[in-house]
Amino acid sequence: MCGIVGILSSEPAAAQVIEALKRLEYRGYDSSGVASLGEGGQIERLRAEGKLKNLAAKLSGHPLFGHSAIGHTRWATHGKPTEDNAHPHATERVAVVHNGIIENFRELRNELIAEGVVFKSETDTEVALHLVDRALQRSGDPIKAVQESLPKLRGAFALAFLFSGHQDLLIGARQGAPLAVGYGENEMYLGSDALALAPFTDMVSYLEEGDWVVLHRKGGVFHDRTNAVVQRTVQKSGAGAYLIDKGNHRHFMAKEIAEQPEVVGRTLAHYLDLGAGKVHLPVALPFDWKSLQRITITACGTASYAGQIAKYWFEALARIPVEVDVASEFRYREAPLEKNGLAIFISQSGETADTLAGLRYAKSQGQHILSVVNVTTSSIARESDVVIPTLAGPEIGVASTKAFTCQLTALACLAIAAASARGTLKAGEEEALVNDLIATPGLMVEALKLESHIEHVAHDMAKATDVLYLGRGTSYPLALEGALKLKEISYIHAEAYAAGELKHGPIALIDETLPVIVIAPHDAIYEKTVSNMQEVAARGGRIVLISDHQGMQGAGLEPAAKIEMPDMNPRFAAIAYSVPIQLLAYHTAVALGKDVDQPRNLAKSVTVE
Ligand code: M6R
Repeated sequence: MCGIVGILSSEPAAAQVIEALKRLEYRGYDSSGVASLGEGGQIERLRAEGKLKNLAAKLSGHPLFGHSAIGHTRWATHGKPTEDNAHPHATERVAVVHNGIIENFRELRNELIAEGVVFKSETDTEVALHLVDRALQRSGDPIKAVQESLPKLRGAFALAFLFSGHQDLLIGARQGAPLAVGYGENEMYLGSDALALAPFTDMVSYLEEGDWVVLHRKGGVFHDRTNAVVQRTVQKSGAGAYLIDKGNHRHFMAKEIAEQPEVVGRTLAHYLDLGAGKVHLPVALPFDWKSLQRITITACGTASYAGQIAKYWFEALARIPVEVDVASEFRYREAPLEKNGLAIFISQSGETADTLAGLRYAKSQGQHILSVVNVTTSSIARESDVVIPTLAGPEIGVASTKAFTCQLTALACLAIAAASARGTLKAGEEEALVNDLIATPGLMVEALKLESHIEHVAHDMAKATDVLYLGRGTSYPLALEGALKLKEISYIHAEAYAAGELKHGPIALIDETLPVIVIAPHDAIYEKTVSNMQEVAARGGRIVLISDHQGMQGAGLEPAAKIEMPDMNPRFAAIAYSVPIQLLAYHTAVALGKDVDQPRNLAKSVTVE
């Protein structure tokens, strides 16, 4: 979950490292650090607790001039987020940055302590440092030292090593965590992703599982886990096309919410034949929708809620039973999966460790693997049989917004494609559904116009200590997403329930201090939700109703606040209704003065279990 970078530059590299780390801060921001080689080839290091800006401030006071450097931004796993635990870790011979977890670190640490090594941090990383350092003391050869040490490490990690006295050498290794190599003019780079390297190059290669790479300014030599020299394709990353700034917005999250009509439109254009009013998938599928008995959807967090919403669409439209599970459970529960079934994995980053492990399990069970991912160069994309990209562009805010609505958009297209192939749609229904999807970006624009009103509602919500979200049908997983969004950025305790479940327990929570967000487009089950709303009102709960004109008219009560959405066909309403849910969480967090883009304890890409 950390971000790592390495640069062999033709100029002072520490400033470039900071530039790259800015783009990796989404992976963690508990501490950061940089190491470079001084004029005499000695390792020089600067580290700082907290956000990258603290390191940048230190660096401006104590510039590092070396042209070879490694850097790190940390999401703490082993050891508190202190400066001592911040990377790079270093001896006088070698420095290392690390993303991931070295699972056998206790055992290795004990062995190294028995050999007389003194540890200076509580991290698992430091064992990798000392293994290489010890081997280096024996052979004097950095390449041999890394080669000898890597097989001793178990777990999922990416590493970058810098060696004193070796101005033209960086070594990277990958086992379970991503690592990209970037090619410049007489410069070479290592980074956790291509986005980090985009300020310098868009020509990249990716290390495959078990690979390690030796970089010099003139190029790199890749080795696989057997140490054989291998070729890895150099490709154009496309990451440079994206401007990573907030534009006129105060936060990335605000920008990403506002971008949704555009990116949802872009995703639709990718999967729809707009002229014919049909879904047109631009990839060949290695399975036949008609022969599927079941779909298994696996994901984490927000992406899992996208999966839960898609379940309603696949089941209702294509009549295929769908099972959805969070990846951390799916990967271990030994689910029996019928051979040749379809397993769908949803992930913004494409690097979520649990989702990737779930994918590998499904593959071992003979499933066709389809992934809905935002980062198409990611591990999940690369290990899938079919990739359905969500064209959201880079999402920087830790709270997922535009990636979620693009996931929903792509999944809606897939559900229509499945229904069409299985012959479960009535005449003209595909065109009608496609037209509903085409209307969605416009509806999102309308929803965004409600922002100042939602901000007002959020000011009131910011006074609450607990919030309850209710919904039925696809509004139920959307309620779960709303509660997650609020929790993660405002730190207000929030829960979501299927509205019909209220009477089975959570109704006991309701009193006049509890805001209850009811997501209820006027659909076939709207009346049922109204009954649940009445139950809340009867107990003094403060209802915030998110519905359309008809829904407001039919509520039969005066909610504490109303967020009136434009009219739309309820089938895919979850996509446009995501906007008020996100804005409510965003403005509540802003009202409370929270760090919206980098909430405490979280990281954007969760590459550990
Ligand atoms: O990159 P992924 O989509 O696989 O990430 C999954 C979750 O970690 C992610 O959705 C997380 O729940 C977000 N912080 C939610 O806003």
